Amino acid sequence: MTQNITEQLSHDWLGLAGRVCVVTGGGGGIGRAVAVNLANAGAHVAVIDRDERGLEKTRAELPGNRHVVAPCDVTDTNSITAASETIEKALGPANVLVNAAAILRPGTLDNLSLAEWNMVISVNLTGYFLCAQTFGRQMRKQGRGSLVHVASIAGSHAQGKSGAYSVSKAGVVMLSRQLASEWGPEGVRSNVVSPGMVITPMSQAFYDTPGVTERRSAVTPMRRIAMPQDIADAVTFLASDRASYINGDEIIVDGGFTRTIMNLVPRPGHD
Ligand SMILES: NC(=O)c1ccc[n+]([C@@H]2O[C@H](COP(=O)([O-])OP(=O)(O)OC[C@H]3O[C@@H](n4cnc5c(N)ncnc54)[C@H](O)[C@@H]3O)[C@@H](O)[C@H]2O)c1
Repeated sequence: MTQNITEQLSHDWLGLAGRVCVVTGGGGGIGRAVAVNLANAGAHVAVIDRDERGLEKTRAELPGNRHVVAPCDVTDTNSITAASETIEKALGPANVLVNAAAILRPGTLDNLSLAEWNMVISVNLTGYFLCAQTFGRQMRKQGRGSLVHVASIAGSHAQGKSGAYSVSKAGVVMLSRQLASEWGPEGVRSNVVSPGMVITPMSQAFYDTPGVTERRSAVTPMRRIAMPQDIADAVTFLASDRASYINGDEIIVDGGFTRTIMNLVPRPGHD
């Protein structure tokens, strides 16, 4: 029997019910919000992170019980393989991968050590590639899947004194486009969500400094800092069947912040 449009919209509109969704960095702010969103959409969620306390916090927030949390270091191929085997055994092969595990380290390029450079690149870029390779293989075997990579507006707008962070995020954008091009013909899409300023454990120290929230809000057209839920909603859309013809693209979730550059230009008579 054909469903009418109202029935289709109310019943699993996202098409995520029963899908196996893996979230890296799922013990952190954005990863946790993504995991909970996907679980609320009926997905079976596997959360991986190297922070076991963060994982337990996420486990406690996940609705239902068809979920897995697995400790994993995304820079270590053995650790990813072990986590993927645990997940596949418990839930089946992955349909969705959300790459969100990352680190932010300060540093100027003139004296950044090779060790610091390599550490950030290995988590933020190589970690995304390794997880895409492992879980993408499971998706390609099924002839369908969706990869969503959390990058940053820092990937297209250089952020000084942030060591290799901006470079790693720019790399994520191109990694995603290349995956989209190589695996699209096999039914696997790859897209990016680039957040602006979000309050999470990664950025909490900035907002603990008096006045920073107000100053950052003032330069953002939406006049507020994002919460993890704002990012999770965009990720969930790209992961879902509702985005089934979106491939190799990027959604910027920054409240309009990066669209304000012309406001910096003095224009006598217009100010
Ligand atoms: N918070 C922001 O303002 C902001 C802005 C733009 C982009 N982002 C991006 O959003 C994503 C999520 O960040 P967040 O703000 O939720 O930060 P977060 O620190 O709360 O979460 C990141 C998680 O990644 C995990 N992680 C780090 N290294 C790992 C490794 N080697 N193996 C496994 N897990 C590892 C951490 O344990 C942590 O739980 C990141 O990709 C970050 O770069 C954040």
